[in-house]
Amino acid sequence: MLKLSQACVGIEEKEAVNRVIDALYLGMGAEVRLFEQELLAFIMEDSTISLRQIACVNTGTSALQLALQACGVGAGDEILIPSMTYAASFQAASATGATVIACDVDLTTGCIDTVDAETRITSKTKAIMPVHYAGGYGELADVYALAQKYNLRVIEDAAHSFGSTYQGKYVGATGDIICFSFDGLKNITCGEGGAVISGDKSVMKRIQDLRLLAIENDTEKRFSGQRSWDFDIKEQGWRYHMSNINAAIGRTQLKKLPHFSEMRKKFYRMYYDGIPTAIGTPIQIDRHNCVPYPFVLRVNATKRDQLAEHLNKHGIETGIHYKPNHLLSYYKGHDKGCPVAEQLWGEILSLPMHCNLGEDDIHFIIKTICNADL
Ligand SMILES: Cc1ncc(COP(=O)(O)O)c(C=O)c1O
Repeated sequence: MLKLSQACVGIEEKEAVNRVIDALYLGMGAEVRLFEQELLAFIMEDSTISLRQIACVNTGTSALQLALQACGVGAGDEILIPSMTYAASFQAASATGATVIACDVDLTTGCIDTVDAETRITSKTKAIMPVHYAGGYGELADVYALAQKYNLRVIEDAAHSFGSTYQGKYVGATGDIICFSFDGLKNITCGEGGAVISGDKSVMKRIQDLRLLAIENDTEKRFSGQRSWDFDIKEQGWRYHMSNINAAIGRTQLKKLPHFSEMRKKFYRMYYDGIPTAIGTPIQIDRHNCVPYPFVLRVNATKRDQLAEHLNKHGIETGIHYKPNHLLSYYKGHDKGCPVAEQLWGEILSLPMHCNLGEDDIHFIIKTICNADL
């Protein structure tokens, strides 16, 4: 079976984990500090490092939740989120006690439709969470224009777009608050992990405490090899910090990112050029600057399941990213419907996209698609 997605890890990751085990300190310590420094250096590229801070956490979901909490979002507030996203975006937001307002998406990119989002703004709206769907960020400038007009915080769910560049800089180098996921299937993995990056130092200071049960200044203590015995807590915090084991895997993966990015971009181009438009059209991303995750094809809704079955019969796994969240029982009732997201849900089919695949595999998948009797 050609898997839809898969972690691409090997001997280097095993050695990194062994290094941590040999050092006998598995929790949050030196490896996490180094991973944070290396991530920041990678994202910022140059001497502007001091303008931003980064905090690693245990998942992308907790990164989003902490980012919202650190902005003061909570019960009584509303957050705008595109419906076409993984449940993690919605669950992270509702975990703060705030109400999630599902927004519709653009038919070609799957990213938030800001015209629709504006119609859903009320006096309770505090934040907007654009999701960088399939590695693309859609019309991000429109999101920031809307946020400025209504004084909203922007928390970018960039789980799909680590390594993509926007306006000549890596995603995370600019913008309000940006959250990444490093789970087992992402562009780089820590096993499980996430990160928040921002130029808002007070938000970042709060996140550093919140990830360690809101124990004040515990991050600094752990990074200098000390433990907090006498401390204060002023709000609800969480055990959301990253472990040295996960950070060590992430540090190894970060070195491999240029290679991973090249492969993913090459596979996107092959699919893009090889699949006849009569069968399907890809969700649009800026393919020169975005690292694709996953590859999403739009197929005529009457043919989608047939194509998935055909591919499955030939040993090719497919997926559907995602069922719109406003259709889930827990989130029903707060929305006016999202017809475009619902249309896309009927049309989308994700094809294998990961770095254990070779060009031969992609050729085989394209050929199998072309041979489908739809
Ligand atoms: C769009 C999106 N947001 C957030 C997340 C959450 O990341 P994590 O799995 O690290 O919690 C994911 C994970 O797949 C995702 O796809």
